[in-house]
Amino acid sequence: MTHQTVLVLDFGGQYNQLIARRVRDLSVYCELVGCDLPIAKIKEISPIGIIFTGGPNSVYDENAPHIDKEIFSLGIPVLGICYGSQLIAQTLGGKAEKANKSEYGRSDVEFVGSSPLIFGLSRKSVCWMSHTDHVTRLPEGFSLLASTATCPAAIYGNDERKIYGVQFHPEVVHSLCGNKILENFLYKVCGAKGDWTMKNFAREQIEKIREKVGEGRVLCAMSGGVDSAVAATLVHQAVGDKLVCVFVDHGLHRKDEPEEVMKVFRDRLGMNLIKADAGERFLEKLKGVTDPESKRRIIGAEFIKVFEEEAKKIGAVDFLVQGTIYPDVIESGKGKSAVIKSHHNVGGLPSVVDFKEIIEPLRDLFKDEVRKVGSELGLEDKIVWRQPCPGPALAIRIMGEVTSEKLETLREADAIFREEIGRASLDREIWQYFAVLTDSKTVGVQGDFRTYENVIALRAITSVDAMTADWARIPFDVLEKISTRITNEVKHANRVVYDITSKPPATIEWE
Ligand code: XMP
Repeated sequence: MTHQTVLVLDFGGQYNQLIARRVRDLSVYCELVGCDLPIAKIKEISPIGIIFTGGPNSVYDENAPHIDKEIFSLGIPVLGICYGSQLIAQTLGGKAEKANKSEYGRSDVEFVGSSPLIFGLSRKSVCWMSHTDHVTRLPEGFSLLASTATCPAAIYGNDERKIYGVQFHPEVVHSLCGNKILENFLYKVCGAKGDWTMKNFAREQIEKIREKVGEGRVLCAMSGGVDSAVAATLVHQAVGDKLVCVFVDHGLHRKDEPEEVMKVFRDRLGMNLIKADAGERFLEKLKGVTDPESKRRIIGAEFIKVFEEEAKKIGAVDFLVQGTIYPDVIESGKGKSAVIKSHHNVGGLPSVVDFKEIIEPLRDLFKDEVRKVGSELGLEDKIVWRQPCPGPALAIRIMGEVTSEKLETLREADAIFREEIGRASLDREIWQYFAVLTDSKTVGVQGDFRTYENVIALRAITSVDAMTADWARIPFDVLEKISTRITNEVKHANRVVYDITSKPPATIEWE
């Protein structure tokens, strides 16, 4: 590809993916790579800039990751963040030490002097700190660019050598000056052109896929989720009818989902999309099963079987499309090895399909970029902003045995929940929200009658990556409306509870 690249060297900090996302948001392509990437490889990639991330170590620890000094003589601008900043200082003859006082959270920062890195910032701003060590002596030739009350070298740098250290985290939204600093680094220091846009990406990918596929045939498993939807649409725009998509309807989807998938992708976009109706088969297999992991295993295995049967009908293909995205590739943020999604409904497919090569058009993209590509391709918000749904879908949101009656109850309650969240315009704020059919019944009174019916639990969380999550503070009046509607409109539900547990200790799903 023809775009400029920034390398983000990963020293193990918790915001590393976020740094990469911010750089991409500023229209510059970047890759998160291990901090031990050899200098020869860096030269080969020839990035326009390098960013060192934060990390949990102290630079003076024996086993702390270090950096080859040669990196500073390549003529490539370097920005060190937190640990990265301390590492620059120490490697170039300055010093980093334990601070008298650790600093976590919001801090007032004051800029001094002038430099392209702090261009356009007013003299005072707010930054977000998280450190115990800090730089106590600058390397020779470097000057101070910003300080906080407890951290004298909040930013320092050398404009001639284009090397800078920032103690705070410009990548987090709480650092009000952060985005401008990153923008300055990219555009004023590295000379970025801003050539990473999703419009360009989509155009380039379509050309690439068209060239690669030639007269070949392509198969794709469509789950209805964002990643597979965008991947399939890209490939479809590239090769049209040479692509065949299979949608396995396991009967466990949310309300109207299968119909919607068919309407959008087959009817509107004209894709060659086959729907395998397997609801009965899945229910049969799940009969009497209550253990969550057993449910997952059964659904995963059955899914692969159904897909295999459909693939056999289609016959040999040349390519298999997978919706793998960048966070799936950068194994736990280390940027070292590539992994294929362990997600059951794609992970097991290669072994049952007769194909020559895998196409993963979204392999370099973060989720928000996948959404932008989807919009560029003309997919509606409903598809592009669809919240993540686990492969086993409602089966792991029904506690205990899955039956068609329980599915019906949960589907209706979940649809009301989703509708009201949408009406309250909370759908982009809340990362994931869904209803759960608990395995308990309680007594109620409806009309003049005693009822003994199901408890519906509502789960709504905010999160960045699903690794940790907090429960969403949905306004009471919205909750009230949802509760009233569910108990009035859904058969076999007479009580609604709201889950106020974060992850950890709970997980997002109940099973
Ligand atoms: P947990 O419940 O582990 O969920 O906090 C984290 C994220 O993963 C999704 N999830 C799954 N996705 N197959 C999937 O494809 C599964 O078996 C599965 N279990 C959980 C969950 O919805 C959340 O987004």
